[in-house]
Amino acid sequence: MKLPDTFLWGAATSPHQTEGNNLNSDWWALENGAPQILPERSGDAVDSYHRYHEDMTLLGQAGLNAYRFGVEWARIEPTPGQVSRAMLDHYRRMIETALDRGLTPVVTLHHFTGPEWFAEAGGWTSSDAVGRFSDFVTAVAPILVDVPWVCTINEPNMVAIMASVQQMVADPEAVRAIAAGALPEPDPDIGRILIDSHHAATAILRSETRAAVGWSVAQQAFVAAPGCERQLAEANRVWEDPYLEAAADDDFVGSQAYTSRTVGEDGIVAHPDHPDNTLTGWAYRPDALGIAVRHAWKVTGGTPVLVTENGIATDDDTRRIAYTGEALAHLGAAMADGVDVRGYLHWSALDNYEWGHWRPTFGLIAVDRRTFARTPKPSLAWLGDLARANTLPTPERLRPPTSGRI
Ligand code: BGC
Repeated sequence: MKLPDTFLWGAATSPHQTEGNNLNSDWWALENGAPQILPERSGDAVDSYHRYHEDMTLLGQAGLNAYRFGVEWARIEPTPGQVSRAMLDHYRRMIETALDRGLTPVVTLHHFTGPEWFAEAGGWTSSDAVGRFSDFVTAVAPILVDVPWVCTINEPNMVAIMASVQQMVADPEAVRAIAAGALPEPDPDIGRILIDSHHAATAILRSETRAAVGWSVAQQAFVAAPGCERQLAEANRVWEDPYLEAAADDDFVGSQAYTSRTVGEDGIVAHPDHPDNTLTGWAYRPDALGIAVRHAWKVTGGTPVLVTENGIATDDDTRRIAYTGEALAHLGAAMADGVDVRGYLHWSALDNYEWGHWRPTFGLIAVDRRTFARTPKPSLAWLGDLARANTLPTPERLRPPTSGRI
């Protein structure tokens, strides 16, 4: 399938997962505090704070034309109301470097982490969260004047889970349950505050910049077991749909899907163990992307879709190429059916800190964490070649999923 010349072909990262030493952030406090609930810490991460030039050069040279990265609120506003001019300059240099390397910047304003002072004041549960976030967005807007795409909040539905988890860390029982994988559902009250924050940020960005503004939603690509359509609708209502509906008037909605989950009679079915599961324990489901973009398109009522993340945790790069090729073929099939998709940003540019673990490697580029040396994997050149040709793989790549089917 031939794509429009404006189609974005890129890769994505987030600040906390790549920069290193995000000292004033809530996640740094979580990683380094007691009780120690996360197995591994971010530390220097992959030092992209200093090495972003190299990262962007590799992506641009491979043939990609876009890079999604974030600005870190905890660096820009390390204490309430004190905006660091030096940090804004840092992120402005990142934007200029991307433009210089031929990469369209897609800038995320909040990617799971915020300042520790914000978390201590109640974070997204506090009554002045909308105002605090709006002040931060107002402070950042001047460096975004010529950025074409801005994502306000990454995966608000996951943030609505994390915010309630953060409230539970003092309770050892809850910590044990979370460590065993029992994540709570997104809290709808926190979700409401996030939606209000997103809309307030959108208004600021629309008045201060020329950017297309949206946010990116975590999608589980739910499918119903036979006869379980009602349970499917309920799972979507709790996990995704309010966040997609909130994007109905946005310039784009970011779709982020990695796997698909079945909804049975009693709700969401746990991923069964399977030799094909990925390093995050998720079912190998490249078809998830097609399911997700179709769902986003339907629930938003036709907001253009940007795939802001999609990828696989594997240490077998051949598998990464196979997964991504199939995912892209499913994306093409959805586009052929009328879904307006503006681009594909692979997660992730680099092997990075996967929120408590280093083992799940999602990167197109490997990083030696002792020397920080970057080594592009064959998948980077493969994706870059598709970007140069500006075509999606053909539908003969569409195969039935091998794992995660009930
Ligand atoms: C997040 C990323 C994360 C990825 C893989 C998404 O939920 O936005 O930060 O690394 O999925 O788990």
